[in-house]
Order: sequence, then C-alpha cells, then structure tokens
Amino acid sequence: RLRNKLASQQWNTHLYTRLIGSLREIKTPEEIALMLKPVSISAIAHAEVMKAIQPGMSEAELQGVQEYVHKKLGAEYVGYPSIVGAGANSCILHYEENTRVNINRDMVLMDIGAEYHGYSADVTRTVPSTGKFTPQQRAIYDLVYRAQEAIFPLCHEGVPFGDLNKKATEVLAQGLLDLGIIKSKDQVYIYYPHSCSHFLGLDVHDLGNYDQDLKENMVITVEPGIYIPAGSACDKKWWDIGVRIEDDVRIGKTKCELLSWQAPRKSADVEKLCLQKSSVNGMILPAIR
Ligand code: GLY
Ligand code: MN
Ligand code: MN
Repeated sequence: RLRNKLASQQWNTHLYTRLIGSLREIKTPEEIALMLKPVSISAIAHAEVMKAIQPGMSEAELQGVQEYVHKKLGAEYVGYPSIVGAGANSCILHYEENTRVNINRDMVLMDIGAEYHGYSADVTRTVPSTGKFTPQQRAIYDLVYRAQEAIFPLCHEGVPFGDLNKKATEVLAQGLLDLGIIKSKDQVYIYYPHSCSHFLGLDVHDLGNYDQDLKENMVITVEPGIYIPAGSACDKKWWDIGVRIEDDVRIGKTKCELLSWQAPRKSADVEKLCLQKSSVNGMILPAIR
C-alpha cells in the first residue's frame, strides 16, 4: 500500500507512521534476542545501585554508577535521558536534571534504560537510600507493586491494550482510598497521572497502535506509579513520596515473560539487596584541586 501511495505521489505521513508502526509492534525472534541485552543490562545496573546506594550520595553519582554498568556490559548509549530523582524530585515526571548533590536519607526513583545495538530498555526502580523503607514509603511502594502484579496476568495475547491501564487504575484507586490519601476513586488521577504501558523497541516509546488486542511477541512496559508532591491535599506524612516500578515484558500466547527480572521488585527483596556491598563504594579518589 505504501509503495502504491508513494508511486502516485500522494505523500501521507500518517499512513507511513501507521504502517511502519504496525511493523514494529511485533518483534521477530532476532529482535527479541537482541532486546534481552539492553533490558538485562539495565536490570543488572539497577541491582548494582541497590547495593551501592547510601545516604549522602548525589543523584548524578547514582546515574554514573548505572551508566558505568551499562558501558561495562557493552551498551552504547542510554535509550533516553536517565531520570534519578530523590525525595521531592521523585514526584516530577521525566525529571532529568539529576542535580541534587545530596540525597540525604530520601528514597530515590531511578528510571534508566540502556540502549544496545539500537534497541532500548526502560526500567524503573525506587530505592530507599538508607536501605530500609519508612512505613509510609513501604505502604506506597507495596501498593504500586500490587498494581504491577495485577497487570502481569493480563499481559497475554487477546487482551485489549486498554485493559492494562484500567486494572492499574482500579488497584491504585482502591489502595489510595484505603490509605485515606483520596476521598473518592476518581481522585486517583491526581497521584497517578500517566498510563501503565507502552511499546518498547527501537525507541523507548516505540511506534504502535494502542487501540488493539495484545499479540504474541509484542514487547511492552508495565509501569504503575504514585507521586505525592508536597502541598498535596492529604496528610503530610505522605508528601514527597514518588514511586514507580517499571518492567519490560514480552507478550506470550497465555502469559508474559518478565524480561527485567534481574532487578528485584518486592520491597523485602530490594531491602535485602541493599544490605550487600558494591565495589563502587570502595573507590577512594583524591580531593580535586
Ligand atoms: N522512561 C520513560 C517512560 O517510562 O515512559
Ligand atoms: Mn516507560
Ligand atoms: Mn521509564
């Protein structure tokens, strides 16, 4: 169809985007094999940072550790500007300045994906710098985790794409209501202002049609989140908590394959890994002059 259109000089960039998008929705076996690399590299980098993180580090330093692991494992680039936001900055979507010089004892949201041979990963972890979630941080973290766990079983062929975000919204709304953070379920959008899934591939937000059922060998993200900036209309014990957990999955016939499993997701598993040491903390450099 495209060739005919081009031959008749009827340039239609929307048609072009749609046709190319449909070619990119379903990954070939070669693409799946390739995509495992950046996703695995990104998950390993997140796991390393869980070991390395300490109060007093800077956002840029954490970014550096992540991107060092990417390079060490062969990634050429990042798929998108790295997002490392501590405390208040974790509540800013697509915060990419990463300029806070001291994360203190705050929790840090890190959305960082390696790019390998043209393909991008997109993985987010939210980690307490002390290695232990406060009760409020854990309540929000575990709610986001439950939302993610509720979405995974829908990630198979035949499920309408839109059902994923419906499920995420439902779980997050009920959870926020139970915690007393919202008064009615329709207020969920105040604290969950995005959607839970997008295509992933050559681009971090890959081309594709969202108005369709999932098909085998699509690769998508699963990324619910909750962001409660200071000043929000809820008890201030919740302020400045921002949590996103983002994983990359391959859609199968009856279930999904979690590609980013090498980075722990459960709060208890994150805390356990934080207890381990990373060799990056042993790097002592001379003072700069
Ligand atoms: N890193 C961009 C996103 O999560 O969609
Ligand atoms: Mn994403
Ligand atoms: Mn992301």
